[in-house]
Amino acid sequence: MIFMKKHLILSQIAVCASLAFAGFSAYADVTGSAQAGQGKVWLCTGCHSIPDYRADYPLTYRVPMLGGQNAAYIVTALSEYKKGERKHPTMRSIAASLSDQDMADIGEYYAAQTASSPNNPLK
Ligand code: HEC
Repeated sequence: MIFMKKHLILSQIAVCASLAFAGFSAYADVTGSAQAGQGKVWLCTGCHSIPDYRADYPLTYRVPMLGGQNAAYIVTALSEYKKGERKHPTMRSIAASLSDQDMADIGEYYAAQTASSPNNPLK
């Protein structure tokens, strides 16, 4: 019985450890959903939906167009902002608030946009 208990505890520890590891696993394992992404881009459209818009703090930046961009490219760019490999301060703080799942969903959402997408006239 004592042996059984020990075994149970050990296997629970193993499960916990693997769950914790899963939490930190690479974003490549996450599958994005364009539909889920649609509910997450409200934060982005204020800058990224305005043609030729320039964000002017702390310098003048051209705001890149995201509609039709490759999903993996968007996810990579967002995680680079999050990690600090890309420096734009606003994008860094925005990306810091996104989970890997959010990034994957947003990537799929923007990748699915075309000039004639009815559900996103602004891109
Ligand atoms: C305050 C304005 C603003 C908001 C809000 C904003 N962005 Fe940005 N974003 C920018 C600017 C400016 C750049 C270009 C910065 C640079 O040169 O690194 C940029 C760059 C990017 C890039 C890199 C594109 C490329 O081609 O290199 C991605 C991807 C991106 N934003 C996604 C998002 C997403 C997703 C959201 C919403 C969750 C968002 N942004 C919200 C202003 C904004």
